Amino acid sequence: MSQSVHIHDVPETFKKRALIGSHRYDEMYARSLKDPTGFWGEHGMRIDWIKPFTRVKDTSFAPGAVSIAWFQDGTTNVSLNCIDRHLAERGDKVAILWEGDDPKDSRRITYRELHAEVCRFANVLKAQGVAKGDRVTIYMPMIPEAAFAMLACARIGAMHSVVFGGFSPDALAGRITGCDSRVVVTADEALRGGRIVPLKKNVDAAIEKAGTVERVVVVKRTGADVAMVAGRDAYYHDLAAEVGADCPAEEMEAEAPLFILYTSGSTGQPKGVLHTTAGYLVYAAMTHQYVFDLHDDDVYWCTADVGWVTGHSYIVYGPLANGATTLMFEGVPNYPSVSRLWEVVDKHKVTILYTAPTAIRALMGAGDEPVRRTSRASLRLLGSVGEPINPEAWEWYHRVVGEGRCPIVDTWWQTETGGILISPLPGATRLKPGSATRPFFGVRPEIVDAEAKVLEGACEGNLVIADSWPGQMRTVYGDHKRFEETYFSAYPGKYFTGDGCRRDADGYHWITGRVDDVINVSGHRMGTAEVESALVAHDTVSEAAVVGYPHDVKGQGIYAYVTLMAGVEPTEGLRKQLVAHVRQEIGPIASPDVIQFAPGLPKTRSGKIMRRILRKIAENELGALGDTSTLADPSVVDDLVANRR
Ligand code: PRX
Repeated sequence: MSQSVHIHDVPETFKKRALIGSHRYDEMYARSLKDPTGFWGEHGMRIDWIKPFTRVKDTSFAPGAVSIAWFQDGTTNVSLNCIDRHLAERGDKVAILWEGDDPKDSRRITYRELHAEVCRFANVLKAQGVAKGDRVTIYMPMIPEAAFAMLACARIGAMHSVVFGGFSPDALAGRITGCDSRVVVTADEALRGGRIVPLKKNVDAAIEKAGTVERVVVVKRTGADVAMVAGRDAYYHDLAAEVGADCPAEEMEAEAPLFILYTSGSTGQPKGVLHTTAGYLVYAAMTHQYVFDLHDDDVYWCTADVGWVTGHSYIVYGPLANGATTLMFEGVPNYPSVSRLWEVVDKHKVTILYTAPTAIRALMGAGDEPVRRTSRASLRLLGSVGEPINPEAWEWYHRVVGEGRCPIVDTWWQTETGGILISPLPGATRLKPGSATRPFFGVRPEIVDAEAKVLEGACEGNLVIADSWPGQMRTVYGDHKRFEETYFSAYPGKYFTGDGCRRDADGYHWITGRVDDVINVSGHRMGTAEVESALVAHDTVSEAAVVGYPHDVKGQGIYAYVTLMAGVEPTEGLRKQLVAHVRQEIGPIASPDVIQFAPGLPKTRSGKIMRRILRKIAENELGALGDTSTLADPSVVDDLVANRR
């Protein structure tokens, strides 16, 4: 295998200028493992402290006693670090460069303007009764006000919970009640790819189910005439006119919660991943600087949505903590044309582009010409995140988009990890297309087999992390037991990632995908259990089982096996209804690609669904179904195979 891998050397330009070269990586990495306290004690100083820390690392992965604290006796404030401390030297530097859905719309917000905007937003929240420790749900388009709202929460010590604007009212309601939010920040409507998303209307529908909300702050985006509930809803611009543009930042303990972000797991409802203040910020800022080899004149663009962790760490917190110019894009890659990303690169002279394999594959499908007709001369570094990138897509991204000149950092991480854990450093790492390569400083990946044995050398198994890093999630909001069970029970004493991984003879990591019941659709993480529970909530459905299958553009598609109630006809019309029903319950990203009506599902005699078999059928690997003799009724498999879609 390794012979066929096309290795890309570190370009000369990076060797000369990069922040971290290969010797320095080796040295720093070795030290970070040998002396974590000394190492992180130094790097903890990259942020400004109100009261400096004296303790560095207080972490334990011990069964039944998992607890994680970094820099815990220090105090600081995230918004001071992302804004105020830059004012003296970078007040007039552009902090947020906004590109609207319509190519004619853009805004430049300097650090000084960001300060005023965030202070004002913070004062508006305070006037709505938001105080330290409260939870604010943010359901917004990709407009600068989304970042202002996040930073405003950080400034006054409230936790934000950003909910992706593509989630349905039902999904939003669950996330509002999950953390008892009294205040929701939203916009009248979102605009994506020329299409309207009725955010405020969705919030109204969500609040009908979630009884906790007392105040809704509505930012005007399209200016549409939306319904406003007297006494509950108010327009941001009206509220902002009544408050001042100065707001002192709260002094926060290092371990004070910063935000909650809901993410899907293999069982039950999405869980609220909790990140805290100082460790998260140190880690987001440091990975952002080193992985993207950030220099002061860079124009950095991450195409994620702020509704996902990538948007939190690598659009807002990491870049702003580093005083960078971060581009925020409201639109989609194929509107108004499939050249849009490259046109934006040229318009704003983007130097670093960080996007997802699904976008790369979709654009690759449109051919080289829409790329070639743009310049892209400003680009010097490319990044990939969210799912494994296949070598073909990697090579196309490298050769066509980057004209062979830009290294690609394939960054592996998770909502739970807060920041990048495995990735090349562009000045230090030779690249192998499809490999996330080597661990970041302080990260101890191990590959284990099913018996928890740590495998050495070239091997393949499950990926665990043997010790804590500052960006790690601290708990599941309100449910520490679930945190321990989900991440620390499979391999006691270690953090289990849920991913499979191969390590080659050079110590490079190749992520093979999830080994649990989580699927990754277009880089969006989805629990099969959530889609199943949406399906069985429909009157006609008696049982459902959902698995992922390989999809050319999305990475994985959603394949649903559905058993109908007795007497219900399996029609095309019903199939459409069920897809629409899932969209309504969760959102368009959860729409099943395939629904197969199945009179029976393969179950063991104790009634457990054999997902392995369902996965193989969905993958069309019919020769690899394995032993079906232990099934309660082996004949159901024949029916499933015969009616495969
Ligand atoms: O399976 C891995 C995949 O995405 C999962 C994490 O999803 P989420 O929490 O939504 O965060 C996505 C953005 C960090 C992982 O468990 N994943 C993420 N990045 C990569 C990846 N798989 C392979 N290569 C990557 N670079």
